[in-house]
Amino acid sequence: MRLTAVIAILSAVLGIGSATQWWESGNYYQIYPRSFRDSDGDGIGDLNGVTEKLQYLKDIGFTATWLSPIFKSPMVDFGYDIADFYQIHPEYGTMEDFERLIAHAKEVGIRIILDFVPNHSSDQSEWFLKSVDGDPVYKDYYIWHDGKINEETGEREPPNNWVSEFRYSAWEWNEVRQQYYLHQFATAQPDLNYRNPAVVAEMKNVLKFWLGKGVAGFRIDAIPYLFEVDLDRYNQYPDEPLSNDPSCPDPDDHCYTQHIYTQDQPETVDMIYQWRELVDEFHQQHGGDPRVLMTEAYTSFENIMKFYGDGIRNGSHIPFNFDFLSNINNASKATEYVEHIEKWMNAMPKGVYANWVLGNHDNKRVASRFGVQRIDLINILLQTLPGHAVTYNGEELGMTDVYISWEDTVDPSACNSDPEHYYERSRDPARTPYQWDASSMAGFTSGDYTWLPVSDEYKTNNALQQLRAPQSHLKIFKTLVRVRQEPSFRTGELKIQALDDDVLVYSRLKQGSDIYVIVLNLGETEKNIDLTKYFNVGAEAEIITSSLQSQYINGDTVKTSSFVAKGNVGTVLVGIN
Ligand code: NOJ
Ligand code: MG
Repeated sequence: MRLTAVIAILSAVLGIGSATQWWESGNYYQIYPRSFRDSDGDGIGDLNGVTEKLQYLKDIGFTATWLSPIFKSPMVDFGYDIADFYQIHPEYGTMEDFERLIAHAKEVGIRIILDFVPNHSSDQSEWFLKSVDGDPVYKDYYIWHDGKINEETGEREPPNNWVSEFRYSAWEWNEVRQQYYLHQFATAQPDLNYRNPAVVAEMKNVLKFWLGKGVAGFRIDAIPYLFEVDLDRYNQYPDEPLSNDPSCPDPDDHCYTQHIYTQDQPETVDMIYQWRELVDEFHQQHGGDPRVLMTEAYTSFENIMKFYGDGIRNGSHIPFNFDFLSNINNASKATEYVEHIEKWMNAMPKGVYANWVLGNHDNKRVASRFGVQRIDLINILLQTLPGHAVTYNGEELGMTDVYISWEDTVDPSACNSDPEHYYERSRDPARTPYQWDASSMAGFTSGDYTWLPVSDEYKTNNALQQLRAPQSHLKIFKTLVRVRQEPSFRTGELKIQALDDDVLVYSRLKQGSDIYVIVLNLGETEKNIDLTKYFNVGAEAEIITSSLQSQYINGDTVKTSSFVAKGNVGTVLVGIN
């Protein structure tokens, strides 16, 4: 019998429980509601669809899911343009559907985390419409500016050179108000003014409203953009310096300038701490479990570390770590993996958890970033590192990007581009309907239309087929999620090293528990490895799980002195005492 099994029985008998909070041992899943499951046949995913599939998530072993925005929206940016922060988007259902979702999630044991989009609203929001009209309450809810008169032409122009994430000027002229407003994303997403205390208070009300409905926390969108430089310190918002990057020659592109006045202003960190205070206070006042915050920020490493807290005040429980999205790719060497992983582990403040985000609705899928042959290997990496794993829906099946032509593209980020460049900008390929089964439309909808096309692969790659197959990406994933609950994975130490350019090995060990060894061969060539040289592991080990194309099957016993790592194969082993 393995040591952990003995300990589990002993603790059950002695009544020793671990005092960790739900979120500390959480395994997180992102649902893109529009594409997850359509319950009413209109080709668009919805809340009842999510409710229907909660048990499926529970069966995989997930404990919490964050949903991309479900609020009333004209859907210019597919829900990230919110017209009413207090209402459910009609295509997704009603408030009653939402309440049923929460109630069912409770029964099943899945926490629901909502997407909080504080930086901007939709231009159809009542707040914005009133702001346009100069309503005294809403007048300063957004960033308005007269612009400047071009001395040569005499024409009015935007105040400065600020560029939107989705290309072109971040300023849009409004005829009614006769001023420009700022939008760091689509034109239809005016930026809220965080230097107005009424806005800060309003957005706190939004949080309280959904906390009151029983949500377990929030994923917070677009953190770096919250504040712009303080206009009171300048007469005019200053131009941003050029980045002079030869790979970014187009002045309409966001990368053309350095965003020193529109991103990462020092006030941002305090705002995160205030939101943390709010969720903690809610917990104190209303009981139940702690509510959790996850923050989305593509920003400097130093900033992300500050989001955790400053030693006095707490911040984000899970400041998203996008290393596997932004810094590690197909070509990365084993040493680069080690560097990034160790950097995060070593820089974290005391008492917090690491986290690793593998994918999301803004990036191409794992299969296309790392290669289809590495899907299991990368999922193994995600689920065996210390801290929290965040999986984007479909990665557990190894879903692949779906090619979407220029004509069919709907993502505003890509539509603002041109036929030649749109694909690299398009987020549509990773947003196609979830592949449930081999029936028509992949079991996503009963209708004959879907808002984005269903992948051609659905007949051979779908959840049902993977559940029935003797081995599959999903089954490997399930094994990983289960083993991740072992003490050595939960709180054990990480010992990691690169053996050469291709091979990454590490162990996870909590004193007194089993030792797990993970071998990831990122290269094509088979390697024979003496694991006893690197780890204090006995002569034999048992295979917990290994990539689909591995020669090993779960439960195999192997000699640790001559472990054979095939190319692109990842393996989890446990030492046999
Ligand atoms: C980040 C979201 O993930 C993305 O989908 C959205 O377009 C921007 N923020 C703007 O809200
Ligand atoms: Mg629907």
